Amino acid sequence: MKYKKNILCIGAGYVGGPTMAVIAAKCPDFKVTVVDVNAERIRAWNGDRLPIFEPGLLEVVREARGRNLFFSTDIAAGIREADIIFVSVNTPTKTFGQGAGMASDLQYWEKTAHEIVAHSDRAKIIVEKSTLPVRTAEAMEHILQENKKGIHFEVVSNPEFLAEGSAVRDLLEPDRVLIGSRQTEAGLQAMREVREIFARWVPAEKIITTNLWSAELSKLVANAFLAQRISSINAVSALCEKTGADVGEISFAVGSDKRIGPRFLNASIGFGGSCFKKDILNLVYISRSYGLIEVADYWEAVVRMNEYQQERFVQAIIREMFHTVVGKKIVLLGFAFKADTGDTRESPGIHVARKLLEERASLVISDPQALENARRDLAAIVGATAGTVEYEPDPYRAAAGAQGLAVITEWPAYRELDFEKIFASMGKPAFVFDGRNILDHRRLFEIGFNVFPLGKPSLTHFA
Ligand code: UDX
Ligand code: ADP
Repeated sequence: MKYKKNILCIGAGYVGGPTMAVIAAKCPDFKVTVVDVNAERIRAWNGDRLPIFEPGLLEVVREARGRNLFFSTDIAAGIREADIIFVSVNTPTKTFGQGAGMASDLQYWEKTAHEIVAHSDRAKIIVEKSTLPVRTAEAMEHILQENKKGIHFEVVSNPEFLAEGSAVRDLLEPDRVLIGSRQTEAGLQAMREVREIFARWVPAEKIITTNLWSAELSKLVANAFLAQRISSINAVSALCEKTGADVGEISFAVGSDKRIGPRFLNASIGFGGSCFKKDILNLVYISRSYGLIEVADYWEAVVRMNEYQQERFVQAIIREMFHTVVGKKIVLLGFAFKADTGDTRESPGIHVARKLLEERASLVISDPQALENARRDLAAIVGATAGTVEYEPDPYRAAAGAQGLAVITEWPAYRELDFEKIFASMGKPAFVFDGRNILDHRRLFEIGFNVFPLGKPSLTHFA
């Protein structure tokens, strides 16, 4: 046999694609196949324009593709030949019925479980990669064990901690790999088989093994903690604006305490991305379903603070631009939920754009990677409001004739822009709202802009 083991991943998205590319690169003797119902996505994975933008990913994919990494739409064949199946389908927040807006929508995940049963003719290890509510593995086990074929499926949880934009680095040098399994002989054996994959490149002490429920819950809790730090510093940014304190100085002072640490303390217009809000709401829903109301309320406040921060940012734009933005050209610099990705899921830019369009502004959205997604996100909103939207990748062209710039995404290139040139091309008075605190505010002020950072004193030319 050409390959020692066959690994399958169902779901070729932001998690499945990069994770499998790295596994294939590090385990050349394993065949790694990634399948998806979305034929267009699979076509893109097989070409040079990958369906997601992720620094360094194309190189890793090229190294393994065709050798031991394959992308396909033949889900049945993939399941048949697999020894280990990673399930990495989307589990968005439910938009309907019970738990709408809070619970995870598990329809894609359940469909996958049924497909695995339908196309299997021997025992397999099923690895939950998608973030799932705690105790989902139990439901997965129920569906899988109901098969009439007498096949044993062992379910293991291996949550993914990669962050977009640094996915390849996070996968190559993870802080930890977490594998949760049943503490039975079969469960521990399955855990060892999954551990063997990661042990090819991850030091043994970084591979943590736990019971199934701890692994599932750890993922939700890790994201909740990270998001909580952002909401905490964002709450402080509001207080800074009232008191004359500087949130950047506070982050530094507070983060210098080794027990706290400096990361994830950047005040912003709010966190976005497919994980934080979804996972916290999931935690809230689960807590509430166990009757832990105080626990649920505690975590829900993290999301509420995030919404407050996004709203505060839009309100500042409207207020400072003399309480009206009707017909005013305002540029959103960036639309991705963070730098180094084209992903716009839950991007604060969506909220900011919607509110400004409702106020009948003329928006220009600029972003080096996310314009296609932005267009899709805003399609329905534009039709329902009286504002207008243009999409312009070039920030200089975007800014010509505009009255305001609002930084949504912390793309490093925005720091390097020639703001004198931009100022000269803009209508006056010209405003900058820095939702990421990445620009040189003093310098912008000296050029002539009225500058509104987050959590720092504003710099204006008005008497
Ligand atoms: C996150 C987790 O980091 C990752 O471990 C998990 O697997 C998936 O969810 P991701 O959503 O890709 O990853 O991005 P992350 O870097 O965590 O940023 C999330 C959001 O928080 C972004 O909108 C980012 O701009 C924002 N953020 C981050 C801040 O506003 N301030 C900070 O200090 C850090
Ligand atoms: P994530 O960020 O968790 O990776 P994505 O939405 O990027 O989520 O990717 C999930 C992928 O799973 C999508 O490409 C979707 O088409 C795919 N998918 C959903 N359901 C199935 C299924 N039953 N079989 C195969 N692929 C599926």
